[in-house]
Amino acid sequence: MYRTHTCGELRLANCGQNVTLAGWVQKSRKLGGMTFIDLRDRYGITQLVVEADAPAELVDTATSLGREFVIQAKGEVVERQSKNPKMATGDIEIKLDAITILNKSAVPPFTIEDNSDGGEDLRAKYRYLDLRRNPLREALMLRHKIAHEVRNFLDSKGFMEIETPYLIKSTPEGARDFVVPSRMNPGQFYALPQSPQTFKQLLMVAGYDRYFQIVRCFRDEDLRADRQPEFTQIDCEMSFVEQEDVLNTFEEMMRTLFKNVIGVEIANPIPRMSWFDAMDKYGSDKPDIRFGMTIHELTAVAKGKGFGVLDGAAYIGAIAVPGAAEYTRKQIDELTEWVKRPQVGAKGLIYIKVNQDGSFKSSIDKFYSPEDLEKIAAAAEASKGDLILIMSGDNCRKVQTMLGVLRLEMGNRLGLRNPKEFAPLWIVDFPLLEWDDETQRFYAMHHPFTAPKPEHEKYFYSDKKEDLEKVCANAYDFVLNGSELGGGSIRIHNADVQKRMFEVLGIGPEEAEYKFGFIINAFRFGAPPHGGLAFGFDRVCALFGGSDSIRDYIAFPKNNQGRDVMIDSPSEIDQIQLDELQIDIRKKVEE
Ligand code: AMO
Repeated sequence: MYRTHTCGELRLANCGQNVTLAGWVQKSRKLGGMTFIDLRDRYGITQLVVEADAPAELVDTATSLGREFVIQAKGEVVERQSKNPKMATGDIEIKLDAITILNKSAVPPFTIEDNSDGGEDLRAKYRYLDLRRNPLREALMLRHKIAHEVRNFLDSKGFMEIETPYLIKSTPEGARDFVVPSRMNPGQFYALPQSPQTFKQLLMVAGYDRYFQIVRCFRDEDLRADRQPEFTQIDCEMSFVEQEDVLNTFEEMMRTLFKNVIGVEIANPIPRMSWFDAMDKYGSDKPDIRFGMTIHELTAVAKGKGFGVLDGAAYIGAIAVPGAAEYTRKQIDELTEWVKRPQVGAKGLIYIKVNQDGSFKSSIDKFYSPEDLEKIAAAAEASKGDLILIMSGDNCRKVQTMLGVLRLEMGNRLGLRNPKEFAPLWIVDFPLLEWDDETQRFYAMHHPFTAPKPEHEKYFYSDKKEDLEKVCANAYDFVLNGSELGGGSIRIHNADVQKRMFEVLGIGPEEAEYKFGFIINAFRFGAPPHGGLAFGFDRVCALFGGSDSIRDYIAFPKNNQGRDVMIDSPSEIDQIQLDELQIDIRKKVEE
């Protein structure tokens, strides 16, 4: 037996026991002839002592230990002279009578401590060493705990976990597919699933009326802190349900997770907001409702005073920033430059200061009288001391989106986005379709399997763009603190409706048959009404852990270029493999 106890386990009550521990040497130091060793495993750290008068061989071995050596240590648990209240095992130490070096270690490239001296790239290259550190170990432990709670909850509600394949045909979720060539079918490719969407719907046709899966998904898209090319979903589907049933079930799941994992009671019921209200008031389909500062439309009150920029705009909107009337000219100029950055994309920023004495100071004083400014301030619901920030443009949604980004920035600057506060929200009543000017066609706002609301079916069968734009779906997103944690919808379960959906999306009958014939066909054999949703599991973990970055909650993540720098992937493959796959690589001709 390598060990009798772990390094996080022993307490005063164990004093007098002879124990054997095994683990990694965090550090060792000499003090007045004695050697102290911090021994670490994933459960904690225990202090080991080799007394000055111990046998010379033992003292020599203790002295020779380097960082990260793997050792086995035998000795007696004794009470410590100077206790360390910060450590769970801080009341005791082990007085050693034997050490066996199980394996030596090269000098680690960075310190394996809570605050490591290693930069991000170095730690990514040696991820297995980084994973020895407490912050990452705790993150993975949290992930494990959440997965466990999810399974417990869904099992208690009668959901069955069923695995679906990874080598499939494209599932449209709006990103590019990762593809895998098939040796046995030369010239043909599998696609890795962007989600198990079609399979979970086929499981509903098969009668498995409550399905879930904690499942890997693959999307070839640009990466950010909250996106990875392979990520995990808590994917769920239910039959014989309406939107209300789905929302209630998963609201309860999220409440249970919050309570059982981090001891937080979230809103009950979770508030709901229509997609249209979210865009109008927050300029975002994932609003952070931990603070107000909502967007107000000023189009009617601000136009017609001879100021060309606003007179020519189709939409004018504003936010009133509390207490920011004291902003200096320099601060406002800096903010104006900030909104002009490509990430925001505004042409400029108009401001009105509502001074404490009720007077106004604005960048548009030339065109607007104090009475005009007062009307605008009233429309923006500004109070004394507020700074009104105004944007305008031809496209209402674009201006609202820019105001939404500015709102979040001002929320950050004013410290209104407290990471300890959790404000969940359902966004409901999404439009079914989204028009794209560039390609002059509709795209599915959620995905092509989402059903139009039954009361909007008359528009769904119209040929007019204006009618199709009116069609809404029973689609919903679960949003928390400005982050989209999950989304889903009530699905189409009728072959003719599904065919019409492909037609609306400009997918011809032949292409629809080629890509999705299997599901249209399945709908002919008694498909029940069904719906579901999927949560981004990595995002749930990061939010519970109080972080914006999902990378720390994934054992072996990719970097921003989609690379795993530890195993150096993606990489080229052998010519033999290419030949077997009958693939020729077109090399870029170097000029
Ligand atoms: P959707 O595309 O909205 O829906 O994805 C569901 C959730 O998955 C998370 N997510 C991601 N997390 C990390 N990295 C990514 N690249 C990434 N992309 C998405 C988000 C998102 O809310 N099949 C539908 C669900 C359904 O209709 O049931 C789907 O995949 O948190």
